[in-house]
This record gives sequence, structure tokens and C-alpha cells, in this order.
Amino acid sequence: MIEVKNLRKTFPHKDTQNKTAEKVAVENLSLTIGTGEIFGLLGPNGAGKTTTIRMLTMLSRPTSGEIIYDGKRISDLDDVRAIKQMIGVVPQNLNFDQDLTVGENLELHARLYHMDAAERRARISELLEYVELQGVINDGVRQLSGGMKRRLLIARALIHRPEILFLDEPTVALDPQVRWRIWELVRKLANDGATVLITTHYIEEAEELCDRVAIMNKGRLIDVDTPQNFISRLGRYVVEWREDVHREFRFFDSREEARTFIGSLETTASIRKSNLEDIFIELTGRKEGL
Ligand SMILES: Nc1ncnc2c1ncn2[C@@H]1O[C@H](COP(=O)(O)OP(=O)(O)O)[C@@H](O)[C@H]1O
Ligand SMILES: [Mg+2]
Repeated sequence: MIEVKNLRKTFPHKDTQNKTAEKVAVENLSLTIGTGEIFGLLGPNGAGKTTTIRMLTMLSRPTSGEIIYDGKRISDLDDVRAIKQMIGVVPQNLNFDQDLTVGENLELHARLYHMDAAERRARISELLEYVELQGVINDGVRQLSGGMKRRLLIARALIHRPEILFLDEPTVALDPQVRWRIWELVRKLANDGATVLITTHYIEEAEELCDRVAIMNKGRLIDVDTPQNFISRLGRYVVEWREDVHREFRFFDSREEARTFIGSLETTASIRKSNLEDIFIELTGRKEGL
């Protein structure tokens, strides 16, 4: 279990008059992530997702607040090593050595975890099979497609068999089919018992993959729930129609109620199932960044 309590991160920053000011990237964030969950952080660019992941994975020190892994505090130096052994990180930016081969990149990482040669060889071959990259072990990383690079980053993060995997926007800029393959891989990891924390600004990704979703905006947590609960809180069906240039919509619990409402309208309207995007717009009041 991961407990996050009143987490806050500020960065020094120059304001418009060039005076030193404070940029608040994450404000008063409290969350609990259960073992075995696929937990999503959903929000537009600048919401504070990467900053949160960086604090959780000890790449960035919180300005204040607490992070506790199974009762171990990241601020407690005696616990840091044990926590690092528990977690694996797939960063937003591809940060491997593009001049090395796939195998060499994994080898380098395995050495950081003090694995002996036989163990390294076995683990690398097992992982390449897991992410379906066994054919390219000797290829230079530069030659790989975007989806293959992302799968290599996932393999690298798994080298030391972490129980918890952090994925920061793992499908950004990937084609839909490639995105599906990454989703399959994340589901497989969760089925194999891992806890997964994934950030995304793709609403359908959060809806598709996550057991629970935390919606963030401008550094703040807006709400946390299961995608299904979010949807049923608003109503499972949406009626949409146009009034002048505006899009109007209303939510209903049942298709019958929605149909009855359409009958009372003077204009043509459409009916569809509601989705997480509706929730997002309802909660944040804006469509920016989606
Ligand atoms: N190292 C940094 N220095 C200054 N500001 C930063 C830094 N990292 C992030 N920020 C700011 O913090 C906010 C949240 O950024 P980030 O966590 O990267 O958001 P997201 O990953 O959701 O797009 C943004 O306004 C960003 O500009
Ligand atoms: Mg980010």
C-alpha cells in the first residue's frame, strides 16, 4: 500500500516582474493506493502528474508532506534502499543510451542492481520475451519504433522484479494499435500481481485500464473513484443537442428517461453512453489539454 499525505511541491520561479516567486506544482495531495491496483493519475499537461511520480519514486524531494510504502517512510533513510527495491519507473522521457543496443541497455541497468552475470543473462532474456522484443536484442536502440522503445523502457523498469511499477504517460504519441499493445502489457503486469500507477492525459486510457482514477488539475486532486462510479454518479446516458452555437447536454440514469427527455425537446438530439471525458469536463469545467 502507498499512502500519500498532504504532499506539496513548489519550484522557484520568476514572476512577470522578474521577482523571485514560487510555482506550486502539487498542492495538498492525499491518496491511498492499494496493493495490486491499477491506479491512474489523469489530468491535462501541467496538472502535476510527473512531479507527483518523481516524488513518489524519490527522484524529487517533496517540499512538504509524507509518502509511506507499506509503513516505510521515504524520509527515513533506513528505509530508502528497501523502497527502491520495491519500485520500478518508466519515465515520461526516453532516457536510455541510444548508442547502445537493446541488450546492452538492459545489461547496464541489471548491473546497477548487483545481479551476477548468469542472473543478468537469464533475466534479460526472460524480460525481452515478456515485452516481445526478443528478436532485437542486438539492435541499436535508435533503430526501434516508438512502441518498441516504450516496451524496452518497461522491460528495463522490471529488471529487479519490483512489486510496484510507475508509468508516466506510457502511450503518449503512439498509434492506436501500439497503444493497445502497451495496455495489454500493463494488464498482464497487474494480473501477475504488480501494483501499477499510471499517469495519462488520455481519458479513454484511464477508463480502459484503471481500477481507480485520481483526477488532477493545476496541481490539485479533484476527485478519486472507479471509472464506473464516476460515470454512474453523473448518469449513464447523455442527451446532446445544439442551441445556436453551443453544445448542450444533460445526464440521465436510464435510456428511457433520456428518450422521454428527447421527446420534449424542440430540436433534434442524440443519445449516447456517458464516459470519463464527460466527468472530466463536469469536474474541471474546461476542455483544455484533452
Ligand atoms: N523543474 C521544474 N521547475 C519549475 N517548474 C516546474 C518544474 N517541473 C514542473 N514544473 C511545473 O509544475 C507544473 C506541473 O508540471 P508536471 O508535473 O510536469 O505536470 P504534468 O506531468 O501533469 O504535465 C507545471 O506548471 C510545470 O511547469
Ligand atoms: Mg508529465
